[in-house]
Amino acid sequence: MNQNILEIIKNRRNVRKFNDSPISKDTITKILEAATWAPNHRSTEPWRFFVLEKNSKKRIEIANLIYDWTYKNVKNPNTKRRKASALSAKQEIIDVPLFIYVYSIPGETDDITKENYGATCCAIQNLQLASFSMGIGVGWSTGKPCLCPEVKNALGITENWEIIGALYIGYTNIKLTASRIPVNNVTKWL
Ligand SMILES: Cc1cc2nc3c(=O)[nH]c(=O)nc-3n(C[C@H](O)[C@H](O)[C@H](O)COP(=O)(O)O)c2cc1C
Repeated sequence: MNQNILEIIKNRRNVRKFNDSPISKDTITKILEAATWAPNHRSTEPWRFFVLEKNSKKRIEIANLIYDWTYKNVKNPNTKRRKASALSAKQEIIDVPLFIYVYSIPGETDDITKENYGATCCAIQNLQLASFSMGIGVGWSTGKPCLCPEVKNALGITENWEIIGALYIGYTNIKLTASRIPVNNVTKWL
């Protein structure tokens, strides 16, 4: 695929439906490397990635944690529906070809922590754009897989790192459309 940067930016969509094609280690490394070329103030390079490959023990452990968390926290009094929600959240994590958690390290001051947060978001966007250019879709979630507090411990994180997202990643044929409000509606020309 050879698209120019503006086309890639405009055509990238948040995707959560993938085909089963595996993503090679080489390709995973490429998209992570793209992430690490994001701008970051003071060269803090604050992003930290946790790659959960398909069928890894850790992936299954995390999927089970998300099942338990969803079952406990989903706002539905109906047990059958709670189980269905929990199972669907778990299954999505098990099935996705590649699942990556992204954390950001804190800085010495709140301002630096905020800069680091911004830089890590830029890193995720780089990862999404590089992936899209190779036919790979990314779904950024700050929902269930990020809200479950036990995940941090399961990933072996002992530091005060902030979770920025869980990324569902896989080759996809899905073509989603989207729109944005016109630039002039969000811009003041002074
Ligand atoms: C910080 C952040 C958190 C997000 N969290 C979720 C999420 O929890 N679940 C979800 O379905 N999409 C999530 N998204 C994806 C957005 O919903 C998506 O980017 C938005 O609908 C615009 O669609 P597009 O990315 O295809 O242009 C998140 C995006 C960002 C930037």
